[in-house]
Amino acid sequence: MYILAIETSCDETAISIVKSNEAGTKCTVLSHTVLSQIDIHKEYGGVFPMMAKREHARVIVSLLEKCLRDSGLSKTLKNEVSLPKKISNKVESLLSRDGDVSAELIALFQKIEIKKIDAIAVTSGPGLEPALWVGINTALALSAITSIPVYPINHMEGHIIAATLKAGRDTSGRDVYVLPEIATPSLALLISGGHTEIVLIKKIGSYKIIGQTRDDAVGEAFDKVARMLGLPYPGGPEISRLALSARKRGDVVAKEMLLPRPMITSKDLDFSFSGLKTAVLYKLQKYPEVNQAVRELVALDFENAVADVLVKKILAAITKTSAKEVIVGGGVSANNHIREELTKALEARALLRIPDRALSTDNALMIAVTAMVHLRAGAKPKKKIIANGAWHL
Ligand code: KG4
Ligand code: ZN
Repeated sequence: MYILAIETSCDETAISIVKSNEAGTKCTVLSHTVLSQIDIHKEYGGVFPMMAKREHARVIVSLLEKCLRDSGLSKTLKNEVSLPKKISNKVESLLSRDGDVSAELIALFQKIEIKKIDAIAVTSGPGLEPALWVGINTALALSAITSIPVYPINHMEGHIIAATLKAGRDTSGRDVYVLPEIATPSLALLISGGHTEIVLIKKIGSYKIIGQTRDDAVGEAFDKVARMLGLPYPGGPEISRLALSARKRGDVVAKEMLLPRPMITSKDLDFSFSGLKTAVLYKLQKYPEVNQAVRELVALDFENAVADVLVKKILAAITKTSAKEVIVGGGVSANNHIREELTKALEARALLRIPDRALSTDNALMIAVTAMVHLRAGAKPKKKIIANGAWHL
């Protein structure tokens, strides 16, 4: 089965095409592209939804064309053909708010045809709604042209599934991902720019949120603290770099300068990161001068504080649920220190599944593989799909 997936929930425009095996347990990557808008949003210190939407619309058709060609599933027609009026009208109406996407898509399908693709998967939430709509409308328009059915996919479930994949290569050097059996019950720790959640997985496809942030998401805290330290967006990798310098030197934060570990002793599995961000602000004011050494020290303690809280809560969740595995997903799972601390802490407690760094942050492969899981469970396609910015698992 061939699946084409589109992801536009935040600031990455991503398209992947995979070929899955009959059982839906393994797939070969035929094409995989992620176009990041980071350089555009960097200037403004964060992602503006309307700007993200415009940028997705600007690049999505050329990205689609590239992915189709890379996959070998498209063929250039000898003579251009016009789409039937009924179809081009439908495409124009679906994409009426998305700038040149309809014209570009119609022009593309006058010169190419695609074969074999069985399913189109698209992220329909959670995320920035204007951004999500570009992917959804493009998927529906593509379906109108090709009659390929469309399946809406939850972005956070994508992060969970991506974290479980085992990477390999086939004989022609293409990436292959195998989806292992997950022992249940298990837990997912989802840590991204918009989410901080502990999810109980009764089985793949059946989820319950048992802990979550009461205010900022952990990635959001990284981004906001980075801004306080004068670092560009996205802040996670920047803070991690500063913290590493201090860590390598063996710097120790003076006791009176330590940041709090918010909610670390609370009885529930919830988090709170907005206080930690404010605490960083106050600590910075206590230093006579905020030089590079101070910035590195604050980054170090901030990263330690986050890791301490995440480790404590996930251990508590394991105790509470007798989970056998912990799946860590979302952009913050790219953080080295957090990866190391979770690895150490879980060693004797549960199997830890953490994504390849390349699959930690947003991409469309995770959406394709999640669709593969849904398809093998008999999911039905949707004719109408709505962007749901707050879609809970
Ligand atoms: O999952 P993701 O790519 O997008 C969302 O769905 O939000 O996560 C992006 C978040 C950003 O807040 C970014 O600062 C954070 O992941 N991030 C990191 C690291 N790399 C990305 N946070 C800490 N350490 C990193 N190395
Ligand atoms: Zn994400």
